[in-house]
Order: sequence, then C-alpha cells, then structure tokens
Amino acid sequence: RPRVLSGIQPTAGSFHLGNYLGAVRQWVALQESHDAFYMVVDLHAITVPQDPAELRANTRLAAAQLLAAGLDPERCTLFVQSHVPEHAQLGWVMNCLTGFGEASRMTQFKDKSAKQGADRATVGLFTYPILQVADILLYQANEVPVGEDQRQHIELTRDLAERFNGRFGETFTIPAPYILKETAKIYDLQDPAIKMSKSASTPKGLINLLDDPKTTAKKVKSAVTDTDTVIRFDPENKAGVSNLLTIMSVLTETSVADLEKSYEGKMYGALKTDLAEVMVDFVTPFRTRTQEYLDDPETLDSVLAKGAEKARAVAAETLAQTYAKVGFLPAK
Ligand code: TYM
Repeated sequence: RPRVLSGIQPTAGSFHLGNYLGAVRQWVALQESHDAFYMVVDLHAITVPQDPAELRANTRLAAAQLLAAGLDPERCTLFVQSHVPEHAQLGWVMNCLTGFGEASRMTQFKDKSAKQGADRATVGLFTYPILQVADILLYQANEVPVGEDQRQHIELTRDLAERFNGRFGETFTIPAPYILKETAKIYDLQDPAIKMSKSASTPKGLINLLDDPKTTAKKVKSAVTDTDTVIRFDPENKAGVSNLLTIMSVLTETSVADLEKSYEGKMYGALKTDLAEVMVDFVTPFRTRTQEYLDDPETLDSVLAKGAEKARAVAAETLAQTYAKVGFLPAK
C-alpha cells in the first residue's frame, strides 16, 4: 500500500470548513486505500504563543474532531506530533540542509510574520516549513493530502529529500502533493477573494465546524454573491456563487454541472437555503460525535498512545538511517 501522511494544527475552537473540505475529507477517504499517518501538529502550534492549558485542550479537541470526521484508528495511525520525538530530531538535520534564502522564500512565513510584525515573529515560525519536511520524510510518505496553501512546503520537502539523497545516498522517498483541484482552496463566505482561514476571515465568513448549527445556517444564508442572478460556476467572475457551488457539490456528491442544471432559473436564495440545510445536516452529527469523544478522554488518550507507538516504530527507523548516513557516531 502506498503511504500518506498529513497534519493539522490544534487550533482553538474548531476546524473550519476549509480544513475539512481541503484536507480532512481526503484523509478519511485515503485510509481505505493507503497506509495512512495523520497527526495533530502541536510542535507547529507553538510557533505562535500558546496558553499551555489551552494547547493541551485543543490537542484533544483536534483529535476528537478527526475521529468525528471519520478517521478510524483501526484503519489509520492517528497521533500527536510531540509524542514522537523523532520529528524534532530529523527537523534539526533538515534545518542544517536548508539554505537561509530558501527558507526566506516561504510565502506562509512572509504572510504570517508580516501580520505579527517582523520583530515578534519567532525563529520557530521561520523554520516551521522545515519541521514539516521532517514530518513527511520520517514516514517515507508517497503522498501528502493537503490544501493548496501547503503546496510550497511539499515542494521544499521534495527539494530537501533530493538534496539529502544526492549527498548521502538514497534515503528518503520523494513525496507528491495530493491536492484535489475542486477543494484545494475554499473561500471566505464574506470575501470570496481570500481563502477561508482562522486568521484572515471575519467570523461571518468563516464556517467553524463546531458552531451552533443555527449560526452555520445564518452564515451560509448571508454569504456574499454578486449582482447578477444566474447560478453558474465561474470562479473568475462569480467567485462567491462558485464557492457555494463547490461546497454544495462536495457535500452532496453531486457534480457542479448537475447543480447548475437543477438551479436553472432559480435565485441565489434557493441555493443558499438548500446549502444551509446541507451544512446543518453535516455539522449536527459532527458536533455530537466530537462531544462524545471529548466526554471520554481516557479512550481518546489511549487511541493517541497506540497511534504514537505505531508512528514511532516507523519514525525511529528512518531517523536511525538518517543519523548513520550523516555520520553521527552510534551510541553504544
Ligand atoms: P493547517 O492546520 O493550517 O491546515 C490543515 C489543512 O487544511 C487545509 N486548508 C484549506 N484547504 C482548502 N481551503 C482552505 N481555505 C483551507 N484552509 C486550510 C490546509 O492546506 C491543510 O492541509 N503546515 C500544515 C500542517 C502540517 C502538515 C505537516 C501538513 C504540519 N506538518 C505535514 C502535511 C504534512 C498546516 O499548518 O495546516
């Protein structure tokens, strides 16, 4: 079985619809066909300030949401990044392989540090993509299911894997991004020119999966569209409507062409009302299931402990090979 690996940050509150449609939905599907490793990236989370108690709670919350979304610990390996120390260890080796200029070209760092002010951004935020490289290479992943905003980090991973292999001999699998065109970038409902994100979106434009379903319906119904009236998929000229069609298409497993047909002659309001209903039907059981996992922290923690054990077996092997290739003297 080919292997996939991906990660998600333990954010406060809940995952948003972009996380789900851009990544987590694919994670769930891929556990059927791939040897799948998925993690909550708490090491990445501390690149910006975190309250310790909240970080702990958000890490469990992230795991609970992943299970609620359909990850099955019998069919994939679900773990917390900090439970596998090899991530930080391989991260250091990768840091020493990366050019300063190369790291400086990472657009996510540029965006995030610009927002924080260059002086407040940490070195951890700067080397964030290099830790992600280690995450992926440790598992010899063939594919990495993510949204479009992570593509550059996968490119860096490929470059560093090739560099290491070239310098020290064949060690790492070269991973490919697994990015579905339709859902690669889900847009903010209030500003369809920007991607949906915790940091950039206004609350009204951001669909949190754990919002009260009434709030979700309201947000969908007040989505920004355009002054035209035709329901047609045309991301360039009709970004808002196209975004709604994408979301509707994926959640109902209906092609966009079929949706266009069934909404012929109808108003935007009809699409929004239907999508609001579809969204409510989706988030309501998701909320319940997440709460069930949260109510049983022992089970949750034991799922994560087993996941970490399985992950470590793979990660330790790759790290040992890497250390040997680099020339570190083995500890006797
Ligand atoms: P994070 O936590 O920001 O996001 C998790 C996943 O959600 C996707 N995503 C979106 N997809 C479509 N439309 C959107 N509006 C949208 N917003 C977010 C992201 O592309 C991502 O796939 N660096 C990663 C976490 C990470 C990782 C890894 C991923 C750490 N190590 C190793 C893959 C492999 C991140 O911050 O994702």
